[in-house]
Amino acid sequence: MARTDNDTWDLASSVGATATMVASQRVLAHREGLIDDPFAEPLVRAVGMDFFIQALDGEIDLEAVDPEFNVRRAAEGMAVRTRHFDRLFTDAAAAGARQAVILAAGLDARAYRLPWPAGTTVFEVDQPEVIEFKTTTLDRLGAQPTADRRTVAIDLREDWPKALCDTGFDPSQQTAWIAEGLLIYLPPEAQDLLFDRITDLSAPGSRVATEHIPDVTMFSDERSQRIAERMKKYGSEIEMGELIYHGERNDVVEYLTGHGWIVSAKTMPEAYAANGFTFPEEETIGMFADMSYVAAVKS
Ligand SMILES: C[S@@+](CC[C@H](N)C(=O)[O-])C[C@H]1O[C@@H](n2cnc3c(N)ncnc32)[C@H](O)[C@@H]1O
Repeated sequence: MARTDNDTWDLASSVGATATMVASQRVLAHREGLIDDPFAEPLVRAVGMDFFIQALDGEIDLEAVDPEFNVRRAAEGMAVRTRHFDRLFTDAAAAGARQAVILAAGLDARAYRLPWPAGTTVFEVDQPEVIEFKTTTLDRLGAQPTADRRTVAIDLREDWPKALCDTGFDPSQQTAWIAEGLLIYLPPEAQDLLFDRITDLSAPGSRVATEHIPDVTMFSDERSQRIAERMKKYGSEIEMGELIYHGERNDVVEYLTGHGWIVSAKTMPEAYAANGFTFPEEETIGMFADMSYVAAVKS
């Protein structure tokens, strides 16, 4: 279903299902020993979407859904991504930050799996049903956060800075922020507003990580539609082309640079190489080559 201004979801519907999709990929990266996220699999299973459960159980031939898919490739791609955002937090902690914010947290389990220094507060922001589901599921599993975890159940198109501060966030302290897998789900002007707000809430020395996707057409091109059609046969309703916002948007690197951040960015081939992997050259995957992983420090 196409997006609307006030749309909501849980982890099995609309944009929420994409959180389950990426968490499934984290399961593969974990199984391959490339990342350490033991919570991804129980979370994905608890959501209960048939497609992902059958895929994890090896009951769906994923290469028949997407001929360019294979487990190792998916695992490496997700490992590169996960390590980029993990590193933002570990670098920030080493530099003294004791406040972290995971925007659009989805099924991100960093508040439970990263070795946060004592005294760290980790805020997670996402829609109410997403937050509620992850919290109760991890509680039921007996998982314990490794930091003071605080949740902010709100839509990021609303006044989330106020909600964040009401939960104990202190803008005068250095903060580590991540916005992972979020920007394409925000309208272009909401993306700018997100970074304006992060900038306003960031003391000097704060850090932020995100990704920049200069061209989103690969999410609605013929290949993407073919994959969505094949996934439908297994009961999946995910149509990326309908979930993202298309059209021109500001370049993240330029925008942050213009707002007082010192920015570094790695293209996908560079990020793969930095992890000891080779970026696949094939045409369709190659379209992601222009995408970059971004990290920035507030001056
Ligand atoms: C692809 S998932 C990424 C989840 C997580 N960051 C990760 O990488 O595993 C997109 C996430 O963005 C969240 N999201 C997208 N738009 C949002 C909005 N307007 N308000 C709150 N959350 C939003 C969704 O609920 C979902 O959890």
